[in-house]
Amino acid sequence: MLVTSALPYANGPIHLGHMLEHIQSDIFVRFQRAVGNNVYYVCADDCHGTPVMIKAGQMGITPEELILQVGKEHKQDFDDFLINYDNYYRTHSEENRIFSQSIYKKLRDKGFITTKTISQLYDPEKNMFLPDRFVKGTCPKCGAPDQYGDNCEVCSATYNPTDLKNPYSTISGATPVLKESLHYFFDLPKFKDFLHDYINSGVLPKEMANKLEEWFAQGLKDWDISRDAPYFGFEIPDAENKYFYVWLDAPIGYMASFKNFCDKNGIDFDAFWNKDSDKELYHFIGKDILYFHSLFWPATLKGSDHRLPTGIFVHGYVTVNGAKMSKSKGTFIKASTYLKHLKPECLRYYFASKMNNQAVDLDLALDDFVAKVNSDIVGKVVNLASRTAGFINKRFNGMLADKPNDPALMEKFAAAMPEIKQAYDCRNYSDAVRAIMSLADEANRYIDAMAPWVIAKQEGQDEKLQAVCTDGINCFKALITYLSPILPEVYLKAKELLNDKLEFNNAASPLLGHQINKFTPLFTRIDTKDIEAMIEDSKKDLAAAKTSVTTPKAEEKTNAFEPLADEISIDDFAKVDLRVATIVKAEEVPEARKLLRLEVDLGFEKRQVFAGIKHAYTDVSKLIGRKVVVVANLKPRQMKFGLSQGMVTAAGPGGTEVFLLSVDDGAKNGDRIH
Ligand code: MSP
Ligand code: ZN
Repeated sequence: MLVTSALPYANGPIHLGHMLEHIQSDIFVRFQRAVGNNVYYVCADDCHGTPVMIKAGQMGITPEELILQVGKEHKQDFDDFLINYDNYYRTHSEENRIFSQSIYKKLRDKGFITTKTISQLYDPEKNMFLPDRFVKGTCPKCGAPDQYGDNCEVCSATYNPTDLKNPYSTISGATPVLKESLHYFFDLPKFKDFLHDYINSGVLPKEMANKLEEWFAQGLKDWDISRDAPYFGFEIPDAENKYFYVWLDAPIGYMASFKNFCDKNGIDFDAFWNKDSDKELYHFIGKDILYFHSLFWPATLKGSDHRLPTGIFVHGYVTVNGAKMSKSKGTFIKASTYLKHLKPECLRYYFASKMNNQAVDLDLALDDFVAKVNSDIVGKVVNLASRTAGFINKRFNGMLADKPNDPALMEKFAAAMPEIKQAYDCRNYSDAVRAIMSLADEANRYIDAMAPWVIAKQEGQDEKLQAVCTDGINCFKALITYLSPILPEVYLKAKELLNDKLEFNNAASPLLGHQINKFTPLFTRIDTKDIEAMIEDSKKDLAAAKTSVTTPKAEEKTNAFEPLADEISIDDFAKVDLRVATIVKAEEVPEARKLLRLEVDLGFEKRQVFAGIKHAYTDVSKLIGRKVVVVANLKPRQMKFGLSQGMVTAAGPGGTEVFLLSVDDGAKNGDRIH
């Protein structure tokens, strides 16, 4: 089988939300391999689109440089979380270009591509068409404000950005204008019957198929697959200055990553992707990208004569302490920040212990996280080994007994195997963990009752001591083998300790008359201090991210310098009366998207000024008391909301990038600027 995780965008770091998906798919893959299935497991960075282009511009590097750098970081994060990809590639690759263009040509030649001139939102300040994600506004379905241009996070509706009410560009804050351009469309409605059958064929859980039924009821629309330059992506063949929309080539990136792997390893790519392939193909995705994976992607595959996914596994979102991950609370935790403070297996275990095959959100409750990891992994599993291996090492030279003391105990462990396998196979990992932990409880009760530390002090009880400890070791063996998909590193250490292959299918066959190695610590407890430090660090990440956007280097590259105005004389300059003033009041103007109403104290009088700085200064309270520079002799202007008596000076291109001028301490209200 071939297993994939969704391809993370190359414009940001991997965070614990992403990790849910990669941990989920990695556990699945490790389990399948453990029970003898042949599995390939690939992923890649999703490199294309406007956000990468904009971010690279801000950093003063090319998109190609950015994606290589980010790709390395992403790969490192996944390695460090013990995610065992066979190949981690990128969508900006030759393989993907070839596949995307040939799939497109196939679709076109079969009559599935149409063109149409459409009016699209255009940022008149930045001179570019605005991708869906860079337009926000009010959801046309439910009226929720500040929703993205392609879908609503409140009611999950999907729509076109032009359907938004009160749209604004998130790049500049400008009100977008409509501009015409020729676009290429994929004829999704032609696939209606096929898709309907497909999504109800068992490829998705019932609730997900039902969700899709709702979308069907709303009617399928042609899918706009082209974007105009400037765009970071692949050019559309036989079209001028048109690029594939990132979501056209992104899932094809699954194929491209696998192709890259096959070529390096002599594997038959076509056997996996041709129309009649008998291999299984599974995609792990989050609920937010269901539409793309269950409608566009299967239709693209079908239309280009490829095989279809066998299963689409949809998960929910990670929350932290019951709330959406938040940068300001320090709960938007990057994978790399987590790893500075905690072991990857702690999170793997905690997620697994709460994960099932439903697309429900999963809460990382930090207190519970510490308690569960410490009590389960350390208290119940690892302790079993540390309490018994010592006696075997010291008293019996590392040799296990020839017979168990309690043969019935291992039988219980063996009897649980089908249930545990079934749970892993259905991705109900929480059931697997529950079953394994109840075996652990059983084992610990047994050891407590037998009290080997008491037997150890009794004369002539060596045989009993050896047998009881052997039972304990064998319980540990079964537990850690059952947990191996979740805790691969502890499992590795256990293999060394137990001097055995620890095969999943033989997890509950006891080791008898067998030599084990010296016990070394397998796992350390989480200290609450580590959690606090991680949260503090995450808050710092936020501060660093904020300053990095305004570095001079970033500014230079994104904004070509504005041409210099005509020369003036000193007398011309003197005509402009600039004065120092203090902002004494600041409030939002609800009807105006960009404006704040300010009251400024000029010393000799107070005035009302409307300033287009709302997107840059969202916390108006921070403005109060601030000294600014005002154009004091500007002709007053009557606006819809009142009279504007002057202008507050600021630098920057607009939108969120507006920077008020301030003066050094000592200047008084009303002082003139010369
Ligand atoms: N690039 C697209 C996927 C293309 S697949 C051909 C994308 N990237 S993403 O980086 O935004 O998200 C990648 C995956 O991470 C998605 O499956 C998404 O659902 C998942 N998650 C992102 N944030 C998440 C949480 N907070 N919680 C759980 N999963 C989350 O979408
Ligand atoms: Zn809505």
